[in-house]
Amino acid sequence: MKRLPISLQSLIIQGVALCLAGLLGYLAQLAFPLQLAWWQLALVQGGIAALLSNLNRQPSWWPPLHFIFFPAILLALQASVPTWLYLTAFLILVLFYWSTFRTRVPLYLSDRKAWQALAPLLPQTQAFQFIDVGSGLGDVPFYLESRFPEGCFYGTEIAPAPWLISRLRAWSRRSRVKFMRRDYTAIDLADFDVVFAFLSPAVMPALWEQARAQMRKGSLFVSLSFGIPAQQPDHEIALAEGARHTLYAWRM
Ligand SMILES: C[S@@+](CC[C@H](N)C(=O)[O-])C[C@H]1O[C@@H](n2cnc3c(N)ncnc32)[C@H](O)[C@@H]1O
Repeated sequence: MKRLPISLQSLIIQGVALCLAGLLGYLAQLAFPLQLAWWQLALVQGGIAALLSNLNRQPSWWPPLHFIFFPAILLALQASVPTWLYLTAFLILVLFYWSTFRTRVPLYLSDRKAWQALAPLLPQTQAFQFIDVGSGLGDVPFYLESRFPEGCFYGTEIAPAPWLISRLRAWSRRSRVKFMRRDYTAIDLADFDVVFAFLSPAVMPALWEQARAQMRKGSLFVSLSFGIPAQQPDHEIALAEGARHTLYAWRM
């Protein structure tokens, strides 16, 4: 059976934990003359939410997040933080993380080690078109463009804030890189000789299908950190200890 998106699962877990903690608090009051303080109820709610998250086999970082969520809200309320600060923080997060609940790919950045390993895989003498699908702040094409004067570099990014930052960076450094604010699933990958992705395991099977259907024979598909189930890459470059940081490349 298809699982609900993790954000929806978490909302349900928090809601159920809140109801159960309330019920426990009520029963404790009936059974013993025991009135639980707010912070005690918040800790009970956090414990129940963490347990439900664990039982629901959410990734290992979710139970601690569930545990601290409600106590953190109570602490923030006690600290009397001005309400506009919450709205501002929320809007900033929305602008950076936009439709992460749908795409299941948040913003996190690759590093110089990855860009350095990527460079020898690109065509060294002839002209080529390169795209970073999910280009974040634009670092990958910015690093490559000065090393490949024959290359045309593109980035496509769905979230408004990273896209705007990459555009402003391109403008300030008079870069040749063109950044688009588009969902890569709506882009025809046949227009590119090299497609680079640093996304998440959740999208790799669909992206692989897109690449296979659209990319031209002889073009190169590169993924940082995330392989494709049952698809042996033509190049596999370990960048650091513990295979998590690996560059995978397939000649189409
Ligand atoms: C892990 S970050 C990688 C950023 C950059 N490529 C790098 O290496 O530093 C992935 C980026 O992909 C963007 N993204 C996720 N799904 C996308 C989609 N369907 N179309 C375009 N961008 C997407 C996210 O907003 C995020 O900024």
